[in-house]
Amino acid sequence: METVRYGIVGLGNMGRAHRDNIINGKVEGVKLTAVCDLASSLPESREGESQFTDVDEMINSGLIDAIHICTPHPSHRELGIKALEAGLHLLMEKPLAVDKTDCQALIDAYERTGKKKVFAAMFNQRTDPHYKTLKRLIDSKELGEIRRIHWSVTDWFRTEYYYAMGGWRATWKGEGGGVLLNQCPHNLDLFQWLFGMPEEVTGFLGFGRYHQIEVEDDATLYFRYKDGKNATFITSTGETPGVNRLEVISERGVLTVEDGIILWDRNETPSSNFSLESMSGFSKPDTWKVKIPIDGRGGQHIEIMQNFINSILHGEELISPAVEGIHSVELANAALLSAWEGSTIQLPMASEKYSEILKEKGHNSTFEKKKIDAKATASADDFAQSNKT
Ligand SMILES: NC(=O)c1ccc[n+]([C@@H]2O[C@H](COP(=O)([O-])OP(=O)(O)OC[C@H]3O[C@@H](n4cnc5c(N)ncnc54)[C@H](O)[C@@H]3O)[C@@H](O)[C@H]2O)c1
Repeated sequence: METVRYGIVGLGNMGRAHRDNIINGKVEGVKLTAVCDLASSLPESREGESQFTDVDEMINSGLIDAIHICTPHPSHRELGIKALEAGLHLLMEKPLAVDKTDCQALIDAYERTGKKKVFAAMFNQRTDPHYKTLKRLIDSKELGEIRRIHWSVTDWFRTEYYYAMGGWRATWKGEGGGVLLNQCPHNLDLFQWLFGMPEEVTGFLGFGRYHQIEVEDDATLYFRYKDGKNATFITSTGETPGVNRLEVISERGVLTVEDGIILWDRNETPSSNFSLESMSGFSKPDTWKVKIPIDGRGGQHIEIMQNFINSILHGEELISPAVEGIHSVELANAALLSAWEGSTIQLPMASEKYSEILKEKGHNSTFEKKKIDAKATASADDFAQSNKT
């Protein structure tokens, strides 16, 4: 195969942005041969691009080798399984699914197919040089043992208009959560990619604290790890300008990731060694101030799509394998369950119980959400902008 025949299902904000990227030649080795949405949401048709209003017809049309699922997350499980069973390569928008049960069902379907096709997820922030550099420092053991992590990512500000735009957004039934399911899959994915999975999660959440919605738009999470390190993760869609500051405290000092720079107050001697060896009660190791300038935010959505295509055509290693998408969903689910029950959740969590409670919340909800009929107008640039954190 020289060119991957590509189909996109869901041509709302994200699907249109991906379509624009392909049409504008930003991804190599791919031809957009099919798109699918409701008739009223389909774009003006182009030569060589077949249009469908029924996803089964697109999947079984023989016109595509790969599918990119850009529909609201509650449909990811069903559509993803159909695509995998039809033998298509699959790129799934984040989050992989609404809950851990659905993620596992997708992974099981992928395994049943013998893992012969490429199954990736759109965790575009893995291409960001801020986090790639930090990962290199962690994996090479430069930082030594990590003791504590604080990540405040409160610059996901969204307006009432945003929440009113899609009827499915920010409801238990339509979306299955709020900021933890919609914006933060990126950050929670990076969290587990960089630091691994904790063994305990406690969530303190604000439901509709800033917006007229029933789900969480404010979250403070506490993670405890098996090796004793602990972490806080704070997020909100109601604060502006907000911050995005990631602090890693390790044996080798304090490292802070902020926009355009990584600052590292580097201990010359690891703190535990210094503590054991020092003959003074109040001294501290000497520190060097290390500044690592970071340029730009990486290739983001385009890089992930190119990597997906390269993986299909040339076997390139995936930047974000879809099977890893279960972890960010589990962190979000555990935080929600913790807040609902007022308790700490041990991981791996009991996913069936969570799914049942979530279904009940959707079923019993009487919340009337404000709605507007907004046509998708965002461009790829809007998305690059809104996801630059
Ligand atoms: N990676 C990122 O940075 C990023 C950014 C935004 C959204 N997303 C993800 O993309 C997905 C879609 O979000 P959005 O903001 O584009 O939503 P949206 O509401 O703007 O668009 C969703 C589209 O899917 C269509 N659709 C729904 N069910 C369908 C079906 N069964 N068959 C065909 N079409 C169907 C709808 O008609 C709509 O046009 C979500 O999972 C979201 O989390 C990812």
